[in-house]
Amino acid sequence: MNHNLLKGKRGIIFGALNEQSIAWKVAERAVEEGATITLSNTPVAVRMGDTNKLGEKLNAEILPADATNVEDLEMVFSKSIEILGGKIDFVLHSIGMSPNVRKKRTYDDLDYDLFNKTLDISAISFHKMLQVARKLDAIQRGGSILALSYIAAQRVFYGYNDMADAKALLESITRSFGYIYGRDKGVRVNTISQSPTMTTAGSGVKGMSDLMDFSERMAPLGNADADDCADYCVVMFSDLTRKVTMQNLYNDGGFSGMGMSLRAMKQYSNGLDESTTE
Ligand SMILES: NC(=O)c1ccc[n+]([C@@H]2O[C@H](COP(=O)([O-])OP(=O)(O)OC[C@H]3O[C@@H](n4cnc5c(N)ncnc54)[C@H](O)[C@@H]3O)[C@@H](O)[C@H]2O)c1
Repeated sequence: MNHNLLKGKRGIIFGALNEQSIAWKVAERAVEEGATITLSNTPVAVRMGDTNKLGEKLNAEILPADATNVEDLEMVFSKSIEILGGKIDFVLHSIGMSPNVRKKRTYDDLDYDLFNKTLDISAISFHKMLQVARKLDAIQRGGSILALSYIAAQRVFYGYNDMADAKALLESITRSFGYIYGRDKGVRVNTISQSPTMTTAGSGVKGMSDLMDFSERMAPLGNADADDCADYCVVMFSDLTRKVTMQNLYNDGGFSGMGMSLRAMKQYSNGLDESTTE
């Protein structure tokens, strides 16, 4: 449903790899709501993934960039202003990757060069984005910048590994930079903490299907999917949330407020029954 919430707004969406990507859904919804956008992803993702397909569909130019590289980011912000014809109103950072997870290094056996890469790609890149945008004065007053997080920043989730530390840092950067950007330029900075979602990055998480089943049973509204996340992002980019900044906002069907639900309890006791009869 189109509400014209982003009519006339200009945005940059980082991290749309394929149709499953959360950023893909956000890009589609943002354009549906009247925005014009540019898309960015790593050169290899643009070559191997479907970003070009999305660009054609949405009439959005693609600016290949490694988000850990400051010069690449400078290019993305300055070219986007040129292409879209003015300062940027909203930005989505939808980027995450742990080389330790990929290499199956457990949290008590991390490779530290890889740990640095996890933090750089998944969290420090957000600081780089904010710093570049501010130095170039690329964001319109009242603009809105979002990154995507996960509740493993606050609580331990088996298998989430060093991405938990990356998300904790991401949320901290959101607060620290949000203060400066709000004070100086009236720009909002927030994270949305999303339910587990079956995407390329999501499927790398150990035990992802079980995790999704668990949170589905725990959350009173069930898991939020990528489309739900896209709707929330649109509202956060819009003028309806002008005074919301420095927040970590849960889009998780209520999971973060729960301790134990009836559905999860039933499943757990079924499991116990089975294990005692085996
Ligand atoms: N899927 C989930 O369960 C879930 C839950 C909560 C939060 N998130 C977060 O949502 C965001 C998007 O992930 P997704 O689930 O849509 O998966 P995805 O795999 O579709 O997206 C991850 C993106 O990060 C990009 N990327 C990796 N390294 C990069 C770099 N150096 N520079 C620029 N881009 C780079 C990838 O190319 C890819 O497009 C991530 O921050 C992820 O942690 C995902």
